[in-house]
Amino acid sequence: MAELLLALDVKGAEEAIRVSRACEGELDAIKIGYPLILSTGMGIVKELAKSNIPIIADFKVADIPNTNALICEEVFAAGCSGIITHVFCGSDSLQAIVDGAHDHGGRAFAVCEMSHPGALDFLSGANAERMAKMAKEAGADGIIAPATRPERTEILRSIIGNSMKIYSPGVGAQGAQPEDIKKYVDGIIVGRAIYESADPGKAAHEFRLRAL
Ligand code: XMP
Repeated sequence: MAELLLALDVKGAEEAIRVSRACEGELDAIKIGYPLILSTGMGIVKELAKSNIPIIADFKVADIPNTNALICEEVFAAGCSGIITHVFCGSDSLQAIVDGAHDHGGRAFAVCEMSHPGALDFLSGANAERMAKMAKEAGADGIIAPATRPERTEILRSIIGNSMKIYSPGVGAQGAQPEDIKKYVDGIIVGRAIYESADPGKAAHEFRLRAL
């Protein structure tokens, strides 16, 4: 059984609140990213969190350790409960995010292999496997791995074991189906297939059932 995370990549507070309200009761977490935050500011986090749902900041952080620690301070002060970081900046940068999240009572997730075709240029294969090992060594709470390549996510699962979570984007608009991936992961991440739907609540309900 996999959780359902909504990738709320809409623009503007009104649309974010409309979609999140429509999906209430169907979601395990909301993932926010640059499209929403750049159009509304971080104040939207507290608004969304009013319904007691965890908010994960998908900022794919990729900077030096000091800057990463400063980013964590802002993300968790705003009310997020998790953050997504890149790993390729190295173990010290990764550790700053993991420690920054944990110091604020939050969780850190590391991007190991991405879901889009261009991931095959760099963010896949041996690089991804190495980054999964680094995420485990750093004490990350989980990794991000692709629903579009279940065979790769299965390999990454074998590297990190069962004590870390895997959240998996690529379901819906990118072509993967919940049934393809649910046995390897702890949660599926769905964006456009829910928020662009004429009835986001119904779409979320259907994805939730299919992820069971
Ligand atoms: P869609 O609309 O394609 O949205 O369902 C997917 C969401 O997930 C993000 N995304 C990723 N994030 N690693 C990540 O950390 C990935 O491989 C990846 N692929 C997609 C995307 O930004 C959107 O929010």
